Order: sequence, then structure tokens, then C-alpha cells
Amino acid sequence: MTEEEKRREVRQGYAKIASRQSSCCGGSTSYEESKKIGYSQADLEGVPEGANMGLGCGNPVALASLKEGETVVDLGSGGGFDCFLAAKKVGQKGKIIGVDMTPEMLDKATENARKGKYANVEFRLGEIENLPVADNTADVIILNCVINLAPNKKKVFQEAFRVLKPKGRLMVSDLVLLKELPKKINKVLDPTSCVTGAMMKDKYLATIRAVGFENVRIDEEKHYDPDLADDPDATVQIFNAKTNAIETKKVSELDKKERQRMEETLKGISSISVSATKP
Ligand SMILES: C[S@@+](CC[C@H](N)C(=O)[O-])C[C@H]1O[C@@H](n2cnc3c(N)ncnc32)[C@H](O)[C@@H]1O
Repeated sequence: MTEEEKRREVRQGYAKIASRQSSCCGGSTSYEESKKIGYSQADLEGVPEGANMGLGCGNPVALASLKEGETVVDLGSGGGFDCFLAAKKVGQKGKIIGVDMTPEMLDKATENARKGKYANVEFRLGEIENLPVADNTADVIILNCVINLAPNKKKVFQEAFRVLKPKGRLMVSDLVLLKELPKKINKVLDPTSCVTGAMMKDKYLATIRAVGFENVRIDEEKHYDPDLADDPDATVQIFNAKTNAIETKKVSELDKKERQRMEETLKGISSISVSATKP
């Protein structure tokens, strides 16, 4: 499959998600789930209804230490949740540019901005591998759960580097692998799933360094939460070897073998927030 075909698949998937308001990772838009990945009650209550689509893996805005008047570019901005949080921090003198390649997501984000009367937030249609933003524009680039979906990950980091001003900061939250996913699972994962295309953690960090970033460091890392197995409402995606397909099941419905497989797979995935600076 070519890069363009992969992007088309992802775009079609997110067009559907935009219209049916569901999450990419089998998660949910509930306050509790969003709090688990780092959002506060105030974050969740302070944005237009529908902006939090439960599509993130962390809260890059919380860790980006934004200052008044800064310009922030959000790569793969979805419904605009992180853009609206960032908008409050940079104030009226600051500016937020959200970039997303799915027109339906852009429409949703634009409508959310209108509802919330955000004058300092702009959404642009475009690919994060070819950002529609001029060189040396941003003080900060944020990115939440998007790199895995991009077929050319190095290009995304190169573009982030180009668009940042000197001394600009990169702040990303993503899922990475601690061990390779079994090939048969990889083949059948939904193109919009947050682990489809996930990189090994070391390679992820090495790619950021390779394009020129300095001070690359992991600010937060979350591993598999064993409480998940005790949550009767939690759902997981399980590979069914008989049908060769991924099925969504409640954790409480899994048999012993499926539970073991779930735990093994989840232990190989970690959620990280990484910061880096442009020299
Ligand atoms: C998992 S969602 C994350 C949305 C948002 N960052 C959040 O945390 O709510 C991924 C978003 O990235 C967009 N996307 C995926 N690949 C992209 C690419 N190559 N270029 C631009 N946008 C992309 C999708 O359209 C989708 O809106």
C-alpha cells in the first residue's frame, strides 16, 4: 500500500469517527477515562461540548508549560480539544493553529471554536507530513496520539522542526511499543487504531533526535494498568484466530486464555509524553 493509500484509509476512518463521535482506542469520552490520561476536571469542563472526543493518549498541553502570547501548532488536531486548552493558556495575544487532514474533523473543530467563541484558534486542512504553516512560526508544537497514524513519521518530525522557531519546544503524547506486536495482529488492526503503525520506543526517540531536536526526554510514561482487568465496563480489542479479525469485547467476558493474551499484549505498549527543543 502506498503512503497516500494509507492516509486515505486513515482519513476515511476518522471521517466516520467525526460523524459518530466515538473513540479510536476503544476508550471513551467519559470524565473518568480522560482524567486517567492526564486531563483535570477544569480542563474537561472548560471546553465546548463535543470537543473532547476521547482520541488522545495524554495531555501534552499540561506538560508544554505554555506562556501568554505564544504561538502553538497542534498536529492532528481532531475535534480541537487540546487547541482549546492551549488557547486559554496563551491568551488573546497568543495563537493556536490546529492542522488535520480529515475535512469532517476540521468542520467539527471549527464548529466547536465557534460555539466556544475562540478568536485565537484557527484550523487548517493539511497533512502533518507537509504542514500548511510557514518556517519558524511556532513557539510550541503539540501532538497527541497521531504519529502512529502517519505513514512517514520522520517527515512529521522534520516538518515540526521546520515550523518551530529556534528554541521552540516539541511536546508529544503517544503510544509506543516495548516489544513488536505479533505480525498477525498488526495485519488486521483497524487503520484508525492508536497502536496501528506504533514504533518501538527507542526508535521513536531516535527519530526525534535524528531530525535535529535536542534535550529529547520522556516526561511521563504509563504502563499497562492491571486494574483494567478488574473494571467490568472496560473493553479491549482481541484478535480472534478463527475469524482472523479483531473483536471488541468487555474484559469481564474474556476467557482465561484471552485474558492472558490481552495482558501480554498490553504489557508491550506504553504511553509516553516526550519533550524536545529546536536548537
Ligand atoms: C487519534 S486522533 C487525535 C486527535 C487529537 N489530537 C486529540 O487528542 O483529540 C488523530 C487525528 O489525526 C488526524 N490525522 C491522522 N493522520 C494524519 C496526517 N497524516 N495528517 C494530518 N492529520 C492526520 C486524524 O484525522 C485525526 O483527527
